[in-house]
Amino acid sequence: MTDIILTGGTIVHENGRERADLAITGEAISAIVAPGTITDAKETIDVGGQHLIPGGIDMHVHFREPGYTHKEDWQTGTEAAAMGGVTTVFEMPNTNPPTRSATELRDKQRCAAKACVDYGIYGLLAEDNIDEIPGLIEAGANAFKCFMGNTFGNLPSPSTGAMLEGFEIIAGSGLRISLHAETASIMAWRQERLVKAGLNDPLHHIAARPEIVAIEAVARAAILAEWTGARVHVLHISSAGELRPLAEAKQRGVDITGETCPCYLFLNSGDYERLGSVIRVNPPVREEKDSQAIWEALNSGVVDMIATDHAPHTPEEKTNDVIWDADCGFPGVETQMPLMLTQVAKGRMSLEHYVKISSANPARAFGLWPMKGRLAVGAHADIAVLDMSREETVQAKNLHSRGKITPFEGQTTIGAPVHTVVRGRFVQRDRTLCADVKGHGRQVTSIQTMPKADPRNQDQSLATILAAGAAS
Ligand code: NCD
Ligand code: ZN
Repeated sequence: MTDIILTGGTIVHENGRERADLAITGEAISAIVAPGTITDAKETIDVGGQHLIPGGIDMHVHFREPGYTHKEDWQTGTEAAAMGGVTTVFEMPNTNPPTRSATELRDKQRCAAKACVDYGIYGLLAEDNIDEIPGLIEAGANAFKCFMGNTFGNLPSPSTGAMLEGFEIIAGSGLRISLHAETASIMAWRQERLVKAGLNDPLHHIAARPEIVAIEAVARAAILAEWTGARVHVLHISSAGELRPLAEAKQRGVDITGETCPCYLFLNSGDYERLGSVIRVNPPVREEKDSQAIWEALNSGVVDMIATDHAPHTPEEKTNDVIWDADCGFPGVETQMPLMLTQVAKGRMSLEHYVKISSANPARAFGLWPMKGRLAVGAHADIAVLDMSREETVQAKNLHSRGKITPFEGQTTIGAPVHTVVRGRFVQRDRTLCADVKGHGRQVTSIQTMPKADPRNQDQSLATILAAGAAS
């Protein structure tokens, strides 16, 4: 018997929409049928006039636990996601301790047990944990994160040598490696020169990390991915310049995807004076022309998805006259959908395309498809129900995240997720968190649904050569 029927809505897919009722049985979608066809469900919910889309899949959140729980934890972070229409998140390894070995991955799994939405957990690829990578894969890491440049947590950025070995090892698993693509040595050099010259204001954050820092990193990582056959993902694309090495690598057949985040679409250097150190994020928000180019790339498919880099900090940690001493990043998992739906309302993107970049493409890239990323019979019932005309104002004090400071403060949005369903269960209803959803979230499995890996040049890999040396 059907558990829930959502009746009277419009179901939006990445390539079209239909007026239909959606039936949920257990954790999955059991039918999509003509309106009024199923009448014997345990619960019938009339969502007349509203739109149903697959829940958001955010590949880039920092939930801070273990270690920095004054900024966020797995409960507050996933509650923010539920309020934002996001049903799956992938969480980053720059916690304390970082997720650098199987032991720490298991610790993080214990922290994540209180999540109310589904999640993946990133393992770290750093200078000093290459030998831990097989154990991380074995323990169930869903993807890897490689901080090519320093950022919050100051994890040791891998040299190109360590990166290559990491890519060689991960390639065979088919798991994707997400790159914080900024080159450490260029930034460290420039920042030191700026600090010595006493240049401490917010705009010098861009001066320390100009777009060449990101362009060089994307191009270099793409070459290593091409050589090893490792799948890679460029996080938080911030500049027009990165789009060329990204598009060229795709043309060469490299399995590379890219994401951008709302701040790179909606903020630029003109906002630094108004926002001060609050705007500090890595990579930095740049020029209007960069936002425009990224918009075009998001619409044309060069940039595959929208993520948030949800990076909460306290107001005290975000506010500092010396830009180098203000923490980088801000919360985003709760505000991404309303901010993007506002652009849909303005006609800058179709709702179908939004479904593609917020859910379908991330599901495909990270091995969650076909269970997630689409509204179809047999898929998980992960759903955001949208009121496309609902107006709201972003206010940090109302965010469910513990990080109560955002550069989008005061922004009016049009369109909001009014219900969020995760595997058949309401976690948010009528803009209110549901009771007793703590612990409903589950770690996703990527490896089983991943397309086959295509490792290359393994005869020249360090592992092969070291094994041959040991055998002789
Ligand atoms: C992130 C954080 O605070 O963890 N900060 C940021 O500025 N983006 C780290 C990151 O994703 O680079
Ligand atoms: Zn990053």
